[in-house]
Amino acid sequence: MGKWFETVAEARRRAKRRLPRSVYGALLAGSEKGVSFRDNTAAFAELGFAPHVADLSAKRDMATTVMGQQISLPVIISPTGVQAVHPDGEVAVARAAAARGTAMGLSSFASKPVEEVVAANSSTFFQMYWMGDKDAMVRRMERARAAGAVGLIATLDWSFSNGRDWGSPWIPERLDLKAIARFAPEGLSRPGWLLDFLRTGGVPDLTVPNLTDPGEPPLTFFGAYGEWMQTPLPTWDDVAWMRERWDGPFMLKGVCRVDDARRAVDAGVTAISVSNHGGNNLDGTPAPIRALPAVVEAVGDRIEVLLDGGVRRGGDVVKALALGARAVMIGRAYLWGLGAAGQAGVENVLDILRGGIDSALLGLGRSSIHELTPDDVVVPPGFTRTLGATESV
Ligand SMILES: Cc1cc2nc3c(=O)[nH]c(=O)nc-3n(C[C@H](O)[C@H](O)[C@H](O)COP(=O)(O)O)c2cc1C
Repeated sequence: MGKWFETVAEARRRAKRRLPRSVYGALLAGSEKGVSFRDNTAAFAELGFAPHVADLSAKRDMATTVMGQQISLPVIISPTGVQAVHPDGEVAVARAAAARGTAMGLSSFASKPVEEVVAANSSTFFQMYWMGDKDAMVRRMERARAAGAVGLIATLDWSFSNGRDWGSPWIPERLDLKAIARFAPEGLSRPGWLLDFLRTGGVPDLTVPNLTDPGEPPLTFFGAYGEWMQTPLPTWDDVAWMRERWDGPFMLKGVCRVDDARRAVDAGVTAISVSNHGGNNLDGTPAPIRALPAVVEAVGDRIEVLLDGGVRRGGDVVKALALGARAVMIGRAYLWGLGAAGQAGVENVLDILRGGIDSALLGLGRSSIHELTPDDVVVPPGFTRTLGATESV
């Protein structure tokens, strides 16, 4: 199934060729004008390295832990609620992550049940939004725990933005005959993708098994989205409630501001991810790599601080670690790998990142990711953004 690719940019090109236009468009996502989406990658490109030429290290170590899980490189899978990319979906991603020694974040909007994903990767964190009533949330948490999920990721940064200047793909409520007729030209123009699905039991059903209670009819992606939109918005007390209901490692994903980071510490979280949801959210939110240093300075000694958004290369990972992140999470990079070549494509992406991290460590004269400091990167004047620092909590 396809050949090895050497960069994430190539994975993206192959995914674009292989996937139907709507599916590819759903992975690209972004919101409004795409300012945040573009800044996420542009900001990494603004940072430079300060390499050495001698006394370099022959051995470079990149193992670490995130929320108690041993990982062989400082990159984990960020949860993404996407459908129809590949028949094995998140199970393929989980297998790839396990094969490469890292952890898996599983979205509650994912296409595969948490039980199957944990069976493929025992280092699985289950991700939840604030949706439904508290009983429903507890049921979903308990199901994830019973399945063996080893951590919870609460994502609270969603702002229900509803347009993009480059247009949104059409996604049907369910693939009934009418939808199939409308989708057919796209599907038929991507025979490799179509055959993969037909070989493994037919067209994607666009349901969200982790939000469906046992014995209930499968909830569709859009049905669940509607439930979410109608849910009263959470308070910090609600965050503390959710954290208490999950007795295990807990990450709050989507924190950009220093004051919010402090409140997250007060709520008892294990970790945060500095993130703007990959630029799919409130457009104009700066790239997380710009907001990271201030957040690390405020809370980095009390909780694990991760970053996600815009990571496309091993060098990006090293930049984030040098500026204080413990590890990063990737979204589109592995989705493109999955779209390009299934499990092998995700493994390929993780190998690209590993190679890039190793190369940057070599150049920087570091023998371990744990030795990285801000001194290793060139930060141009005015690069960082401190969000919400005026209020001390
Ligand atoms: C198509 C798509 C779907 C996503 N769905 C979710 C989700 O269900 N839950 C969540 O916490 N984050 C979700 N995210 C955000 C990712 O977890 C992550 O924050 C983001 O993709 C990181 O940016 P990157 O794609 O540049 O790596 C999604 C991102 C994309 C691109």
